[in-house]
Amino acid sequence: MKLYDVYPLNPIKIVKGKGTYVYDNKGQQYLDLYGGHAVISIGHTHPHYVKRVEDQLHKIGFYSNSIENVLQHQVAELLGKASGLTDYQLFLCNSGAEANENALKLASFHTGRKKVIAFHNAFHGRTSLAVSATDNTKIIAPVNQTDNIVFLPFNDEEALENTFKISGYEIAAVIVEGVQGVGGIQVATDNFLAKIRSLTQQYEAVFIADEVQCGYGRSGAFYSINSNGIQADIYTMAKGMGNGFPVGALAITCQIKPWYGQLGTTFGGNHLACAAALAVLEVIERDNLIENAAVIGAYLISELKKIDKIQEVRGKGLMIGIDLPLELKNVQRDLLFKDYIFTGTASPNVIRLLPALNLTQSDADLFLDKFTSRLQQF
Ligand SMILES: Cc1ncc(COP(=O)(O)O)c(C=O)c1O
Repeated sequence: MKLYDVYPLNPIKIVKGKGTYVYDNKGQQYLDLYGGHAVISIGHTHPHYVKRVEDQLHKIGFYSNSIENVLQHQVAELLGKASGLTDYQLFLCNSGAEANENALKLASFHTGRKKVIAFHNAFHGRTSLAVSATDNTKIIAPVNQTDNIVFLPFNDEEALENTFKISGYEIAAVIVEGVQGVGGIQVATDNFLAKIRSLTQQYEAVFIADEVQCGYGRSGAFYSINSNGIQADIYTMAKGMGNGFPVGALAITCQIKPWYGQLGTTFGGNHLACAAALAVLEVIERDNLIENAAVIGAYLISELKKIDKIQEVRGKGLMIGIDLPLELKNVQRDLLFKDYIFTGTASPNVIRLLPALNLTQSDADLFLDKFTSRLQQF
């Protein structure tokens, strides 16, 4: 059987990882500033993580959501503590798209309405509703096309206000990334987030913060949008939550009430996934990784801003976008194949840094050094 060919692949076979480094089958070491797309939060094969998942595997890996699972309560407890939102309710699932799909569905159940506001360049995943709220017509299949999603310009308070004035009572939810990832690391302004909060409150719509990529400490705060005391009604998360184990979740305000059968999943919240999620939360707390993301992220951003050839540097914490002119389109490729540094990309020519939250100052310096020299070659 052949693989279904949807990914343009780099000809590299990664066989091992440790901390912020990965290794190919020839033994070549790579600095991983991509984290397998913002997934590796506490570093590859972290010893505490490996032990907790392994120990759990020896006990029980899976049982269905028809029984009480103490580990789910432990995840809820630690997640509430880490985020400061102890009175929210936790629903566990398996991926970012699934988290957003459930969040949008929940908003519609809660309000009895159908319309959703999403933003230009947003990415919310590839399942039915999540992909409809994603601003990329190429990946929306005809069956997922719907008039229920209204796309507005990102960070445009006036457009948001006008839309609410015209059809505010039809709107079930506003879904927004605190920092757009796939959209090229665009940071939502505090005023924009405050406007979303006040309008959703006024019109009794649900504020959904898609924290799948920018959440879980990556921005230097547990949730990227929680500046100025702003709180969303639902936070969705995945990626960094399991450090590579597929686990996603929704943190849901207590104003939204559950009923039996409203949401559900076979695999979500299984014992093994909970063990992985617990290990991640324990390491984040024990090693002060959110603070590290804030400090090393701020350092990287300020150093990158000093480099001439860069058009713009954007980001928060360890979610950083570097805008390069189009004529430097080969820099990212050379970083990988000549300097052995993994980074991400976004259109038109953005380098995305999404490393593990325990990136050290010396690894940040190593990148700055190699990157500066690389830019000088062009
Ligand atoms: C902001 C955001 N939301 C949702 C998703 C979808 O997550 P998943 O690929 O786990 O379904 C992604 C994935 O890149 C994302 O960046």
